[in-house]
Amino acid sequence: MTEKDFQPKHYSLTLEEGRVNWKAPSNIALVKYWGKHADQIPANPSISFTLDACATTTSVTYKKRSSTKTGFSFDLIFEGKPKADFKPKIQTFFERIERYVPFIKDYDLVIETSNSFPHSSGIASSASGMAALSLCVMDIEKQLNPEMTKDQFSRKASFLARLGSGSACRSIEGDLIAWGAHEEIPGSSNLYGIKYPFEVHPTFKNYHDTILLVHKGQKQVSSTVGHNLMKGHPFAEERFQQAHHNLDRLRPILADGNLDEFMALVESEALTLHAMMMTSTPYFILMKPGTLEIINKIWEFRKETGISVCFTLDAGANVHVLYPESVKEEAIQFIQDELVVYCENGHYLCDQIGSGARKL
Ligand code: DP6
Repeated sequence: MTEKDFQPKHYSLTLEEGRVNWKAPSNIALVKYWGKHADQIPANPSISFTLDACATTTSVTYKKRSSTKTGFSFDLIFEGKPKADFKPKIQTFFERIERYVPFIKDYDLVIETSNSFPHSSGIASSASGMAALSLCVMDIEKQLNPEMTKDQFSRKASFLARLGSGSACRSIEGDLIAWGAHEEIPGSSNLYGIKYPFEVHPTFKNYHDTILLVHKGQKQVSSTVGHNLMKGHPFAEERFQQAHHNLDRLRPILADGNLDEFMALVESEALTLHAMMMTSTPYFILMKPGTLEIINKIWEFRKETGISVCFTLDAGANVHVLYPESVKEEAIQFIQDELVVYCENGHYLCDQIGSGARKL
């Protein structure tokens, strides 16, 4: 499919007013997306676990505009209060998606949004937020064009979400999502995420992710700036090739449930992501001392107990502790005894792999 396939031909119905409501989860990448081309095209393919508890709930109230005004008309309410500083991001998003959903200009929109995770927890809400908003927009389009199939709906929601934030395209469906063209993954695309099409061992069907909030403040360098620093980066080409290769390596690991190899690959991906940051020009470090303390504690614990607990990182200081259901009790005990001390105000969030967004 190409971008053109997402442009609507005609709408069979008209619509005056209404309200749509969706909840979309966050996701955590196993093979990381880092580096992009124009129009939110990823420089390499990635794969993620869709999460469950960390989510954004968004409702959009729409009412047909009476006059032929130009520009978009929308208000934004975040956690019950108007939030002017989020508006430019939504404005840019609407500009990017307009040609695919031209009807958004015909309505006055009120967007009400809230996150399940605490404000300024250091958890990026762009993936779940852009996914939830895209699903609301698609819900309106589905009412204008009821012939749309469920697959077309999800694919276009992912396509739109990508234009808001790359990783958001992996937050529409569950439970393992691949995004980015890869030779060996049939149906994979740079334009949207797809459900991972290969066999997945039951151990990965209810995997846990406990997110340790090491640093809740604003990051010094945004993901968008970080992605751009991959342009002209001395190790960029090698890194992009490595991501393709790691997706190949992951296939038998996910099929067989080989936890040792899974942990080695996922941790290496996390550290490679941060190595790219440290070797950018200008260089930067998003990890904090607590991040490194936690990583070392996890390695020690694994060596001493043989229990399959590993970590991954996103573009920040927080640590995602990943472990299978079978070791849940030991892992939580270990986190409470040894890792919580490195969390800001002792805060952490318990999440697990989830089945994707849902309409409310
Ligand atoms: C490190 O999706 O936040 O989490 O496309 O600029 O919005 P934009 O970037 P974003 O980048 C996420 C980067 C990452 C890795 C990943 O999720 O794959």
